[in-house]
Amino acid sequence: MEAKITLLPGDGIGPEIVVEAKKVLTAVAAKFNHTFDMPAYIYGGAAIDELGDPLPEETLAACLNSQGVLMGAVGGPKWDDPTAAVRPEQGLLRLRQALGVFANLRPVKVFDALADASPLKPERVKGVDILFVRELIGGIYFGTPQGRSEGAHGREGFNTMRYNEMEIRRVLQVAFDLARKRRGKVTSVDKANVLATSRVWREVAHEVAAENPDVQYEDILVDAMAMYLINRPADFDVVVTGNLFGDILSDEASMITGSLGMLPSAALGAAGSVGLYEPIHGSAPDIAGQGIANPLATILSAAMLLRSSLYLDAEAAAVETAVAQVLAAGHRTSDIARPGDKPVTCAAMGDLVAAAL
Ligand code: NAD
Ligand code: IPM
Ligand code: MN
Repeated sequence: MEAKITLLPGDGIGPEIVVEAKKVLTAVAAKFNHTFDMPAYIYGGAAIDELGDPLPEETLAACLNSQGVLMGAVGGPKWDDPTAAVRPEQGLLRLRQALGVFANLRPVKVFDALADASPLKPERVKGVDILFVRELIGGIYFGTPQGRSEGAHGREGFNTMRYNEMEIRRVLQVAFDLARKRRGKVTSVDKANVLATSRVWREVAHEVAAENPDVQYEDILVDAMAMYLINRPADFDVVVTGNLFGDILSDEASMITGSLGMLPSAALGAAGSVGLYEPIHGSAPDIAGQGIANPLATILSAAMLLRSSLYLDAEAAAVETAVAQVLAAGHRTSDIARPGDKPVTCAAMGDLVAAAL
């Protein structure tokens, strides 16, 4: 196969982790006889510095003109001035919207070798296999009006949480379709006791559930869900929720696996749209430039790209198996290291996975 994969390294640890995922994709191409063209484009804070725009036209065009986009992360203290007119994160939101990737799949699966890396007790962590389906291009992230103004009580900031039936229905349907291929259970998370948005969400969710009677369905309020994820994470299969709740709950759930540095994601749209693949974590400015970031979330995101955008199932599984083997052999970056381990660098971890392939 010949495929074009656009790389968006971005900021902070972004370039360090994306280069390791590229290494692994290069090894996949060699082993399975494919040709992957993997050009990198400027994006995020780096693109603000150079061009004044976090998502330059040429970068967006390259993304739209490829079979899949693999991203590192954007943002950092340099661009965090709260009064700045442009922000790196705006580039990411615009990219997701331009690609139309409304369903963000965030799998939370514990590698056997990492059962002891979680701060939760091993017996709670055992058997956890959750697939978050986070709505990605709606809700309070995009609702209007949003902005700031001066009022009688000083500065005021405002956002609007909005969901319509079409947006709710299409992401719920993705959740049901995925659940059918897994353990057959969907949990929808909302705040229907307080938010009007959530009451519409729940109403539509129940309609979609009625149309998919072969899949088990339940609703859980988001505050209780935050607790259940710690208390009984093994009870969940597919968890579908809105943009903001999904952002927060998936970072929380990452700790079940041992580290935020382990969680990949795939953002998918309607048939024919270009998928966006990224680790769920950010640019980790506190460790950027030290060569110690965990590249596995990005490498596992590359595996998701192989499976969902290039339909290369065996290749995707080979990457996941290579990661499992490297972990089983005891190799750890510092975020998942055990006391007494000598942690490997980001680059060494990439080399190990490529070699295991
Ligand atoms: P973060 O996810 O960057 O980091 C949180 C903590 O997790 C830090 O201690 C960090 O060192 C650690 N961590 C994250 N990824 C790691 C990895 N691969 N290996 C080892 N440790 C890792 O969140 P933050 O510090 O709140 O945000 C930093 C910046 O990243 C902000 O500007 C934020 O907007 C941005 N951000 C971007 C994305 C994205 O591009 N998709 C996602 C989240 C946050
Ligand atoms: C994520 C990030 C982004 C989000 C930010 C950087 C816009 O936290 O991908 O989880 O909130 O979606
Ligand atoms: Mn997030």
